[in-house]
Amino acid sequence: MRATAIAQPNIALIKYWGKRDLERNLPAVGSISVTLSTLYTEMRVEIDTTLAEDVLLVNAVESRTLLPRVSNCVDIVAGVDRPAVCVSSKSNFPIAAGIASSASAFAALVVAADAAFGSSLPRDRLASMASRASGSAARSLLGGFVELENDADDIRVKSLLRAEDWPLEVVVAITAPGPKPVSSGDAMEISRRTSPFYDRWVEQQPADLAEARAAIRQRDLHRLGAIAEHNCLKMHSVMWGSRPPMIYWNSATIACMQTIRELQNQGVGVFFTIDAGPQLKAICAAADAATVRAALSATDGVVELMQSGVGEAARLLNA
Ligand code: DP6
Repeated sequence: MRATAIAQPNIALIKYWGKRDLERNLPAVGSISVTLSTLYTEMRVEIDTTLAEDVLLVNAVESRTLLPRVSNCVDIVAGVDRPAVCVSSKSNFPIAAGIASSASAFAALVVAADAAFGSSLPRDRLASMASRASGSAARSLLGGFVELENDADDIRVKSLLRAEDWPLEVVVAITAPGPKPVSSGDAMEISRRTSPFYDRWVEQQPADLAEARAAIRQRDLHRLGAIAEHNCLKMHSVMWGSRPPMIYWNSATIACMQTIRELQNQGVGVFFTIDAGPQLKAICAAADAATVRAALSATDGVVELMQSGVGEAARLLNA
């Protein structure tokens, strides 16, 4: 049996940073994200009883380094006594560069594995399974604006607004396409153990979530931008205060932030967010996307721009 699924990455507007249970990869805080439309990861899972062990092909090249995490995720869906699988992934954007590649990869993987093994699990179970592989992946199981909530000893994802209800655009300014030096998972654990700001971060998250939830329900870009930028800069402050410090930005990341401030000063409705990498994501109304693109592409150090609307949930490509 084989199945192929596609998932879009999601960009967190209120960030997940820190785990409350390492073993089960449970987040310390809730988060809110927007699922993208044009970027994607496709995952094909094929059960192959002739294989002695799992095989992973990433963009047609065999990867042994990423295989253990992928195999673990298939185990979570199909159990450890399952037959071996060949997993092939294909993406149209850089992997591990802070553009949420693990989110779309594991969201697509749980959907494809569920279909290949014929388990037909409900979406909330698949979200919970994806989150054990990568916390942010659970959010790509739904489209539009998505909230991830901590729920007893599990997580739950829920839709705040459908993609068509608020058709914003996300412009991603790539300032360095290479993989990040420290994975988000490792970096957030260093923050939890060493940052003097970590406890305050966790404590303040419910208030940030409530503010963003209200802004999204009112479709108030200015209100959402204010809380999203605050939450992003607070997360990076936690990282900067860690030992060793985690500084993912480069000079172009800061130049992009200044570009967004200048646009805001000119009255353009746009705000930024930055994840565990040097890329800046600008969020704006569709009508302002060309202006935002032009300003970011004229910013020193920007090597490439990508653009996306708000997208759909992870889904199967074949039955
Ligand atoms: C900064 O989901 O990559 O993008 O659960 O260890 O795989 P793991 O972490 P991951 O962390 C995402 C961190 C972030 C913020 C976010 O997406 O909420």
